[in-house]
Amino acid sequence: MDKLTLIRPDDWHLHVRNGEILRSVIAHTAKQFSRAIIMPNLKPPISIVKQALIYRQEIIQALPVESTFSPLMTLYLTGSTTKDEVKKSAESEHIHAFKLYPAGATTNSDSGVNNIKSIYPVLEAMEQVDIPLLIHGEVTDNNCDIFDREKVFVESSLSNIVKNFPNLRIVVEHLTTKEAVDFVISSSNKVAATITPQHLLFNRNAILAGGIRPHLYCLPILKREYHRQSLIKAATSGNPKFFLGTDSAPHLTGAKENSCGCAGCYSAYAALELYAEAFEQENALDKLEGFASFFGADFYQLPRNTQTITLKKQPWTVPDSYQIGNETITPLKAGEDLHWKFI
Ligand code: NCD
Ligand code: ZN
Repeated sequence: MDKLTLIRPDDWHLHVRNGEILRSVIAHTAKQFSRAIIMPNLKPPISIVKQALIYRQEIIQALPVESTFSPLMTLYLTGSTTKDEVKKSAESEHIHAFKLYPAGATTNSDSGVNNIKSIYPVLEAMEQVDIPLLIHGEVTDNNCDIFDREKVFVESSLSNIVKNFPNLRIVVEHLTTKEAVDFVISSSNKVAATITPQHLLFNRNAILAGGIRPHLYCLPILKREYHRQSLIKAATSGNPKFFLGTDSAPHLTGAKENSCGCAGCYSAYAALELYAEAFEQENALDKLEGFASFFGADFYQLPRNTQTITLKKQPWTVPDSYQIGNETITPLKAGEDLHWKFI
C-alpha cells in the first residue's frame, strides 16, 4: 500500500497558544484537520464563554485565507466556575467542553482545581446540560512518583467522578498507562479517551537513555514499554472509545532546551504522518480512519466530515526547527525520517 485515503480527520486535543505562536502554528493543523478541540490553558486561562469567543476569533483570523478549519472551543474549569457559566456554554454553538486541570499538574495549570469534590455542583450542571468534561488525569501530590500520577488519579479521583456522574460525558485526555486504558474500556460508553502520537511512538527510555531529550518531555510523562503496548492495542482495536488527540503543544526551543524545560511536544506539523507511523508498525493502517476521523466526532455528537485527505508512502526528513519570528520551535522527531507524507 503506498497511498492512504481517509475521511478528513479532526484533532480532539490541541494547543495553539495565541499571538505570534498561534499565527505560526495554526496552518499546520488547518492543513490536515477539519476541526480541533482547542485547549484553554492560556495565560490568563480561557474560563468564560465571552473570552472563548474572542479567542476563537483570534484563531480564525490567524488561518490561511482559503482555510475552512473550525476551532472547537473549551473552557478552563477553576474553583470559581459557576453553574450559570455552564448554562451559557451549553447555549453557545461554539463551546464544546470544559477542561479540568488539577492545579499544578501541567503547563499553565496554576488556575486549575485544587479540590475536585468542591466542583461537584458544577459537574452536576454539566451532566444536566450534557456538555463533556475533559480531564488531565494526574494527581499533583509531590510525594507521588511522576510515573504513577495517572494511575493514582484513576484510582483516587476519576473513578469517583464517573461513579457520581454516570451520565456525564468524560474524555480522559492523553492516556499513558495500561491502568487508564483498562479503566476506560471497563466504563460505560460515556467515558472515552484521546491518545497522542508521542505516547504511541515512544516509551520513557526515549527521553532518558543515552542523553536527555527535552523535546520528548511532555505531561503525562512517557511511560514504560508495556504501557505503550497497551496504548497501541487500544488505538488500533477499533474500539470507538479511543480517538485521536495530538496534544500538540508548541513551546519555543529555548523554553524546552533549558535547565527547567517546559512540558509539551510539537506534533501538529505532521500529526497524521506520526500516527500513520505508529499504526503501520502494528500493521493496523486500516484502523486509522476510525480512530482519526469517526470516533471523536461521534462522541462529541458532531457530524462526521465528508471530504477526504491522502497520505503517500514517501520518506522525508523532518526539519530541525520551524521559525517563529526570531525564534524557533523544535518539532517532535526533528531531523529524523518519516515514511508517510500528507499530500
Ligand atoms: C501541555 C502544554 O504545553 O500546554 N503540555 C504537555 O506536556 N502536554 C499541557 C498539557 O496538555 O498537559
Ligand atoms: Zn494538552
